[in-house]
Amino acid sequence: MEEKRFVDPNAMQTPEEAIEKSLRPQRLAQYIGQETVKEQLAIYIKAAQAREEALDHVLLFGPPGLGKTTMAFVIANELEVNLRQTSGPAIEKPGDLVAVLNELEAGDVLFIDEIHRLPRVAEELLYSAMEDFYVDIMVGQGESAHPVHFPLPPFTLIGATTRAGMLSEPLRARFGIINHMEYYTNDELQEVVKRSAEIFNVEIEESGAFEIARRSRGTPRIANRLLKRVRDFAQIKSDGVIRQKQADEALTMLQVDRMGLDYVDQKLIRTLIKMYQGGPVGIGVLAVNISEDRETVEDMYEPYLIQIGFIRRTLRGREATAAAYQHFGYER
Ligand SMILES: Nc1ncnc2c1ncn2[C@@H]1O[C@H](COP(=O)(O)OP(=O)(O)O)[C@@H](O)[C@H]1O
Ligand SMILES: [Mg+2]
Repeated sequence: MEEKRFVDPNAMQTPEEAIEKSLRPQRLAQYIGQETVKEQLAIYIKAAQAREEALDHVLLFGPPGLGKTTMAFVIANELEVNLRQTSGPAIEKPGDLVAVLNELEAGDVLFIDEIHRLPRVAEELLYSAMEDFYVDIMVGQGESAHPVHFPLPPFTLIGATTRAGMLSEPLRARFGIINHMEYYTNDELQEVVKRSAEIFNVEIEESGAFEIARRSRGTPRIANRLLKRVRDFAQIKSDGVIRQKQADEALTMLQVDRMGLDYVDQKLIRTLIKMYQGGPVGIGVLAVNISEDRETVEDMYEPYLIQIGFIRRTLRGREATAAAYQHFGYER
């Protein structure tokens, strides 16, 4: 039997991506937070391994930066199988998907990021691929065009998406394991920050890690990004050690407020309050007013603002809450 390759998520692209990848935990035991997801996956992985079967297909959904891609690699590592990676937008025609499927070996993981953006024709190919491990494809053109039945090895599809609601029902129904990634608690993010600081070889005090954690919008990717900026600040403005003071000053300079809200969050709430008297206003209108695209607002900004109770969704649109008025110092 061919030896299985340990998936190396550090294979590099841009320096920024390379850093992000160097920070990725590779095993379930190193993966911080998402306890429910980890607990369930650990059981399913063990069971699949004991039966010597491919793991059931897994759908991971949740806002950007919460560790979906990381988890896909972790699952492949735990299963000790290869991971093939593609994304919805990268697949333009059915042939692109067939090319990826063609590379799979028994038990492998196929990771499709932004799976909600797969073209419909490619999505339909996935139905039989997921359910019965085959695809029927048309070969040849015009008169000579004919269908070819193409069997596949058993494999595990891992799909990632920012919102489960954007997936068609037939596709969603074919995932045996569906996991919702949650925003991280401050304690968990503090662990993420300390772990990353160790990898960066930068000295950080608990108070510094705490300050970065609570201003990271519940998101590890943001925590890591802020850590890098605070590191620079501490290095230039003091002795390089990250304490609460350096973290606070650096983050304030970056316009990350005490709640961790960034420039766009702040603009969004202020616009909602000042231009629309707190709403209700449609999300599309709001997005246009702050020069962001609607999808970014819906995927990235709104969910966190709802989570902390600053925005409320109503049938007529979005409304600012009393807590938002208070935080930004506006009278109702
Ligand atoms: N549970 C975790 N523990 C430690 N770091 C994490 C965790 N989840 C995510 N990260 C970090 O956050 C970054 C973004 O994660 P990623 O998996 O790319 O998120 P997503 O795919 O959901 O957008 C990764 O580079 C990784 O360093
Ligand atoms: Mg990702």
